[in-house]
Amino acid sequence: MKPQDIIAGKSSLWIFGYGSLVWKPDFKHKRSHVGFIRGYKRLFWHGDTFHRGSDEMPGRVVTLLEEDDACTWGVAFEVTGSQIEESLAYLNIREAVRGGYGTRMVEFIPRDESQPSVQALVYIATEDNPTYLGPASTDEIAAQIAVCKGKTGYNIEYLLRLAEFMRQSCPEVDDTHLFSIEKACLAIFKPLLLAAQHRVTA
Ligand code: SIN
Repeated sequence: MKPQDIIAGKSSLWIFGYGSLVWKPDFKHKRSHVGFIRGYKRLFWHGDTFHRGSDEMPGRVVTLLEEDDACTWGVAFEVTGSQIEESLAYLNIREAVRGGYGTRMVEFIPRDESQPSVQALVYIATEDNPTYLGPASTDEIAAQIAVCKGKTGYNIEYLLRLAEFMRQSCPEVDDTHLFSIEKACLAIFKPLLLAAQHRVTA
C-alpha cells in the first residue's frame, strides 16, 4: 500500500514504531502512546547496510513477522495537518529508501486503556527485500550486532536503546528474543569492560 493512498483525504494519521522510532522519531507529531499491535512478532531479521551497518558488514535491525498469537510493543505517533506529508516524506527516505521497509496498516492498541484503538501505518521489511537476512541463532545475531556500525551509529546502540525502552515503558512485557540478544551481546563486551576496569583500578 502506497503512503499517498493511505493519507488521501485524511487530517490525522497514526504511525507505529517498534524499532529506532520508539526512542528517536525525529519527526514532528501531535502526541504519542505506548501500546502494541497483534499478530506480529518483532525479530532482528532485517539487514541494514546504511544506518547500523555497511555493504561489507550489514547490521541487524528489527522487522515484523506475521504470527497469530504474537504481539509487538512500541509507540504510535499521531501526525496532523502538514505534519502528515512532512513525516511521510522523512520516513520514506529513512525507512523505505535507506532501510528497505514497505508499509502496511495495522490496528494499534494503546497501553492506556482509556484511549481508543486506532489504525496505524507501520514499516515492515519482508524476505523479498535484498537486504533481508532472516533467522540466525541468538549468539550469531549478537556477534553481528556487536561489531557492526553504520552512518547513524553503532548497531549495539540500536539494540540497547530498544531494550531500555521496553524495560522503562512496558516493564511487564517479556520480549525474550530482544532480551536474549541483549544479554548475549553484553556478554561479548564483558571481558573488555572487566579488563578496562582492572587497568583503571590497578
Ligand atoms: C531506522 O529508523 O530504521 C533506522 C534509524 C536508526 O538506526 O537510528
